Amino acid sequence: MQISRSHRFAWYAGRHHDNVGHPRDKRNAARVKYADGYTATETMNYRHAYHAGNEADCLKHALLLLLLRALARKARPFFVLDTHAGAGAYDLGSAEAAKTGEAARGILRLIDNAPEPLADYLGLVESLGLYPGSPALIRALLREDDRLACCELHPEEHAALKRRFAGDRQVQVHHRDGYEALRGLLPPAERRGLVLIDPPFEKTDEFATLARGIATAVKRFPGAIVAAWYPVKLRPLVREFQADLQARRIPDIVTAELLLRPPQDPARLNGSGLLVVNPPYRFEEKASAVVGALRDALAGPDGMEEIRRIAPERFADGATA
Ligand SMILES: C[S@@+](CC[C@H](N)C(=O)[O-])C[C@H]1O[C@@H](n2cnc3c(N)ncnc32)[C@H](O)[C@@H]1O
Repeated sequence: MQISRSHRFAWYAGRHHDNVGHPRDKRNAARVKYADGYTATETMNYRHAYHAGNEADCLKHALLLLLLRALARKARPFFVLDTHAGAGAYDLGSAEAAKTGEAARGILRLIDNAPEPLADYLGLVESLGLYPGSPALIRALLREDDRLACCELHPEEHAALKRRFAGDRQVQVHHRDGYEALRGLLPPAERRGLVLIDPPFEKTDEFATLARGIATAVKRFPGAIVAAWYPVKLRPLVREFQADLQARRIPDIVTAELLLRPPQDPARLNGSGLLVVNPPYRFEEKASAVVGALRDALAGPDGMEEIRRIAPERFADGATA
């Protein structure tokens, strides 16, 4: 389905189904080599096609665009690592998207009523035709000498991603664990760029794994912008995650959150956030306009946006990560 303002989407049932896929379905099985060298076969049920275009995706991608625009302001080439890439782009007219109706509450609502702070993001989405996942969005911003490396573990998502970028000399597609790739692919020769970590949060210890992944990225690729998406179901889980990062003494961290409702029901995705290490100049101000516009367009009366600095630009003792 082509995305355009003129479309009407009456066929959305609007019911929420979570991820599908049978645990014994071999198509969902991936051989995973972990950062510590341990190897195991993992079942992967998460498919982003069911969630593409929802409110959380719009938040992540609109902020990601701010980060990419900042990188493109300087002439020196940059490198992007997308550790959990998905299929690359999505057809919002697919059976998967229709089953959940999530895009109708997110990107399709925005496209019909584009607020000014989101004009850049929505213009890009429209110009690309298919709804872009993070790889397609990042690819659209690469200049001639910039590079993108994507990791995806799910066999079918990886195959789709590989097809999408076949023959593209600026994009590498890896069938490997994105967390392990933080050690394997960093630092890049360019020495400037962005790491996006966007895990599916299928596992109960994902917040802890994510905090370790962020610390690894910061250590291996100093000066890089590191952006990590996280869900907000209950506030304490998020506070614990942020405290974990603060305890690691990683400087210069800002979080940008969009809450659709107060985070009180653990069974619902009540909101989400993007945590950014080494945010570019004036990111907080620009993020505030973007997230405020998303709140006005997508959240209910109890919705909220919050931009927060959770680690100072520099520690007084000069400590760096
Ligand atoms: C939330 S989706 C990614 C969406 C994508 N970043 C976007 O914005 O369009 C998470 C993806 O990570 C994949 N995945 C799960 N565990 C992984 C791992 N350890 N390494 C790489 N990919 C993984 C899943 O198959 C899924 O496609």
